[in-house]
Amino acid sequence: GLQVSSQRMRNRRKEIACRSDIERLTPCFLSIYESLIPPDEEKEKQKQLLASLEKLVNKEWPGAQLFLYGSCANTFGVSNSDIDVCMTLDDAGTSKSDILLKLAEILESDNLQNVQALTRARVPIVKLMDPVTKISCDICINNVLALVNTKLLRDYAQIDVRLRQLAFIVKHWAKSRGVNETYHGTLSSYAYVLMCIHFLQSRRPAILPCLQGMKATYVVNIDSVDYAYFDRVEELHDFGAVNNESIGYLLWAFFDYWAYCHDYANDVISVRTAGIISKREKDWTRRIGNDRHLICIEDPFEVNHDLGRVVDKYSIKILREEFERAADVLQYDPNPSVKLFEPY
Ligand code: CTP
Ligand code: MG
Repeated sequence: GLQVSSQRMRNRRKEIACRSDIERLTPCFLSIYESLIPPDEEKEKQKQLLASLEKLVNKEWPGAQLFLYGSCANTFGVSNSDIDVCMTLDDAGTSKSDILLKLAEILESDNLQNVQALTRARVPIVKLMDPVTKISCDICINNVLALVNTKLLRDYAQIDVRLRQLAFIVKHWAKSRGVNETYHGTLSSYAYVLMCIHFLQSRRPAILPCLQGMKATYVVNIDSVDYAYFDRVEELHDFGAVNNESIGYLLWAFFDYWAYCHDYANDVISVRTAGIISKREKDWTRRIGNDRHLICIEDPFEVNHDLGRVVDKYSIKILREEFERAADVLQYDPNPSVKLFEPY
C-alpha cells in the first residue's frame, strides 16, 4: 500500500510550483517564524542558570568552565527548549564517566532535580532540571567540536535572515510530524539546520556563501587538528541580496528538493564544500556496522560523520513521504500553514 503509492508519487511528472502563487504564503510563514522566537528574558534566565552551575562545579574543579552550545547558542532555538551545556576541564587521568558521576553527585546535593548520569550514551551526559527556572539541561564534558559547530551555525545565521526563518519552520514541521527523533531513526535538529544551510548555498544566485571555502579568520586546534573558516560574517551581510526569493517559496523549494530532486542513491550534501559529494568518494556506499547512509549529510568538521547514519530502511520511507507531503501541502493545500504542522 504505502510503498506503492509513494513510488507512484515519486514517479509522477511533477508540475513546478508557480513562484508568485507560493510567495503568497510568505507573510503567514513569517508570522509563524516570529511567534517561535524566544523572548529575551528566556536567554537571561539561561545565562543565570549557567553562571550558578559554573560556580557550583568550580568548588570541585576550579579550572572548569561551562559553555552553552546547541540551539540555545546557535540562534536556532525556539521558546522553552532544553539547554545544552559543555563543561571544559583538564581531565588528565580521570575518565569521563567518573567525572560525570562526580558531577551528578554534586548537582544532586545542591537540590537540582531529575539528576541522571548517562555515561554510556554516544555523547555521555548528566541531565538535570533546575527547580527555580524549570529549565532542563544536559551537560557533556570537553565536547569542544560541538562548541565550534555551534559557532559555525550561529555565524551562518547572521549572514541572511532567511536561514533562520527556514530552519525555524523546518524544525517546527519536523517536531510536529514526529521526524525529529534520532532514537526512532529520523534526523536531529542539527542535521535539519545543515540541510537548510546547504540548500541556501545551492540557490542560484546563492543565498549563503561557503565559509569553510574562504580565507580562514578563525582557527581552533583540537587534538592537533585545525578547524578553520571565515568568521567575519558582518562583512557578508548583503551576500544573498541579489537573490530575492522569499521564505514561502524557499520553504516549498526546500521540501521539493528533498522530495523529488535529491539523488538518494549517489549524493552526499556537504556544507563544508557548499556542494554535493558522491557517496563513492566518501566510501558511504554500503552499510558498515550500524551506519547505513540512506540519506547522507556530511558533518562540516567531522567529515567521516554522516548525520544521516541513524536513518534505517523503515525511517527513510517515513522521512521521504513526509518531504513529499510537505511539498504537496505547500503547493496544493488551501490552508498550508495549518496542514503543514498537523500532528501525525
Ligand atoms: N551535535 C553534534 N553532532 C550531532 C548532533 C548534535 O555535534 N550528531 C551537537 C551540535 O553542536 C548541535 C548540538 O549538539 O548544535 C545539539 O544538537 P541537537 O539537539 O540536534 O540540536 P539543537 O540545535 O539543540 O536542537 P533542539 O532545539 O531540537 O534542541
Ligand atoms: Mg538541544
